[in-house]
Amino acid sequence: MAVSSFNPLDPSATAAAPGSPSPDSPPAPRQRTCPDGARERVSALIKRLGGVAYGADYNPEQWPREVWREDVALMREAGVNLVSVGIFSWARLEPSPGVFDFEWLDELLDLLHENGISVDLATPTVVPPAWFYRANPQARAVLADGTPVSHGSRGIPCPSSPEYREATARITHALGERYSAHPAVAMWHVHNEYGAPITESFSDYAQADFRSWLQARYGTLEALNTAWGTTFWGQIYGDWEEIIPPLVTGTEPNPALQLDWKRFSSDAQLRCFIHERDILREYSPNLPITTNFMAHNCDTSDLWRWGREVDVSTNDHYLLPEDPSRHIELAMAADLTRSLGDGGPWILLEHSTSGVNWRPRNVAKTPGEMARNSLSHFGRGADGIMFFQWRASCFGAEKFHSAMVPHAGRDSRVFREVCALGSALSGAADAAGSRVRNRVAILWDYESLWAQHLPWRPTVDLGFREQIRAWYERLWRDHVGVDFAHPEFDLSGYDLVLAPSSYLLTDAAAANLRAYVEGGGKLVVGPFCGIVDGNDTVRPGGLNAALADVCGVSVEEFCPLPEGADAGISWTAGVGAGAAARAPIWCDDLRVTTGEVLAEFMDGPVPGGAAVVRNSFGAGTAWHVGCVLAPADLAPLMADVYAEAGIVLPDYPEGVEVLPRLGQDGSEWAVLINHTPKEAEVTPAGWPDPVRLAAGASGIFRRPERA
Ligand code: GLA
Repeated sequence: MAVSSFNPLDPSATAAAPGSPSPDSPPAPRQRTCPDGARERVSALIKRLGGVAYGADYNPEQWPREVWREDVALMREAGVNLVSVGIFSWARLEPSPGVFDFEWLDELLDLLHENGISVDLATPTVVPPAWFYRANPQARAVLADGTPVSHGSRGIPCPSSPEYREATARITHALGERYSAHPAVAMWHVHNEYGAPITESFSDYAQADFRSWLQARYGTLEALNTAWGTTFWGQIYGDWEEIIPPLVTGTEPNPALQLDWKRFSSDAQLRCFIHERDILREYSPNLPITTNFMAHNCDTSDLWRWGREVDVSTNDHYLLPEDPSRHIELAMAADLTRSLGDGGPWILLEHSTSGVNWRPRNVAKTPGEMARNSLSHFGRGADGIMFFQWRASCFGAEKFHSAMVPHAGRDSRVFREVCALGSALSGAADAAGSRVRNRVAILWDYESLWAQHLPWRPTVDLGFREQIRAWYERLWRDHVGVDFAHPEFDLSGYDLVLAPSSYLLTDAAAANLRAYVEGGGKLVVGPFCGIVDGNDTVRPGGLNAALADVCGVSVEEFCPLPEGADAGISWTAGVGAGAAARAPIWCDDLRVTTGEVLAEFMDGPVPGGAAVVRNSFGAGTAWHVGCVLAPADLAPLMADVYAEAGIVLPDYPEGVEVLPRLGQDGSEWAVLINHTPKEAEVTPAGWPDPVRLAAGASGIFRRPERA
């Protein structure tokens, strides 16, 4: 039997319940949780900072001490109140094993404190020093082809290595002991972007660890063999030691094994976070502890599982500079991050003042764009607006990355915009600390994403994010606020739930959605949804058996389209009747049972077949969308859905965002963002007078006192 070097995390929360749920006793919806005391710690942080956190990653070890003094003067000028320090400092803090040099950090923290700037102190465990890898080459991550990754950059330790665990414990204890009571330290920042750049390690340690994780998940080999369908291609396992991760092999490894490997890899990183967090907690019972998520582009961590372990949800967001609707992708990332933290205040731990350095073309932000980006996060509940980085580096791989203090220095457009933003945020201190909740939820499940993107699927053109983004964009353009939710969460508080991309639905999730509609909920289901259970196994009884009766339609066959092709659809009933569209990528061949056809295919693989169907189920309504629609072409569908869900669209100008925030003191605020090149006038719902916004302008406004 394999012996793991760590205790495995309990994987049961991700385990698909074997078999079908009893129809008489559907499982209770999953509750969202956070560590005990997390909310109090975050409220205390906001109070201590006097409102919204504003600042950046600060890497003073790259600069002589005279520059530190200039830095704090400029930070004060910009309104900075929090900086993340020490993220990459392990080699400076522990120059040889067990020998620490804290003198420089002591001086820095004292200087920051004297200047009223708080510190989000990092554990530098993303980059162990060179001496560590020299002594422990086996602690490096190993790629799927068996190659160990070399040190010399960052982010390459194997999360299952006991040597890495021991070394991270030593530096974390040392930092916790020395700095938890330092008056500058306001928060702990564990590691940096877990899973970037190396997500999965295939080392011998990781392989043994995976087997232990599987034993905890399945208990017996018989259960594992059944869950994985190992009778296919004769893969039956007779001993745990026979199981290996999806290393490079002849053709496709077992998809259920691949899915469990992704679950395990996320858990292995999460266990490293919990290990450091628990050490820090011993020293700092009252400080928030978190790490920086990459909710917008990193799909390798199950952030719902991570969300319940951090005190505050966070994001590092980097704009897609060549996307004309990049502000909509940003909005989606912000709504997802807030939802991962159950709607509570969250922190944007990194974004950029202008261009980055790691894209093929690092397009600079236009004047006003940084403020629009920042306020869009703030309007969606962020109580921290932070950047990578404070001062642009002169050397190293990121020397062309933008910063709050660019290479051009204080007398620059970027620094002037940084100061203006700092002043706008400090003026909105009373708006901090609020929770944001919307009436509409979009389902988001990392396990489903992983499963949907495994190779050998009906088409490579149907992407999880792309499909959700199209539906999100429709709501964004309609000025409808959105939360994201896991399909097993309690959805009863939502007037409307959208499932644009829910390929995998566990039995518990399927039962939850069924109960939601039965109880009066409105559910819209996209193509290729509800196809497999938690083991990536198609349920008997039809391709969409999980929701076929709820949607009044059964999927007889998938008909993905050749590259570049599309099929015509025509709306024949419902509020959108008369509209027509071309739908790329996908057609379902549907057999309508109890549903009403709202749109039909005019041509393509199933001419005359149903494309969109609405069905009454229990006290609620469900829609099945059997095609891929662009945001504009979703309008007829959503008109029908809004009408049924009782959602009345506000009359705001196109391209102008109106984001309400409620202060803890009851004050009402609106973040207004004009994304258009024209002046706009908008009256936030319930406000007495309109507000004028110049082209590209944004601002935080307090509702005028009632007369
Ligand atoms: C990430 C990292 C930072 C920095 C930035 C550059 O978000 O966390 O350390 O490398 O990217 O954009």
